[in-house]
Amino acid sequence: MAQWVRICSLAEAPTPGNVSETEVHGVGICLANLNGELSALDNLCPHRQGPLGQGWIEGEAVICPWHSWAFNLKTGKADYPEHEKVNVFPLRVEGEDVLIGIE
Ligand code: FES
Repeated sequence: MAQWVRICSLAEAPTPGNVSETEVHGVGICLANLNGELSALDNLCPHRQGPLGQGWIEGEAVICPWHSWAFNLKTGKADYPEHEKVNVFPLRVEGEDVLIGIE
């Protein structure tokens, strides 16, 4: 069953237009801020395990820094190439804390 785990404070979260990476319970997380809205994705790119949290945002996608695969921040589906996908974790803000739902 999923549990809510604190990943950082709001002050530590990426600012609009930026991404960062962190780890919770041994799972790498890419944290992204699109126009003030945070989302949390699996940090490992399914191509060759590039660190998405070291990439950047284009449109509504995070771009892998290694070979530029692009994953939608809301759905985790790849804009390029099709049929690829990363996990998107539920995320909520409670007071000053950012929490994600994780197994
Ligand atoms: S490792 Fe991400 S695009 Fe290659």
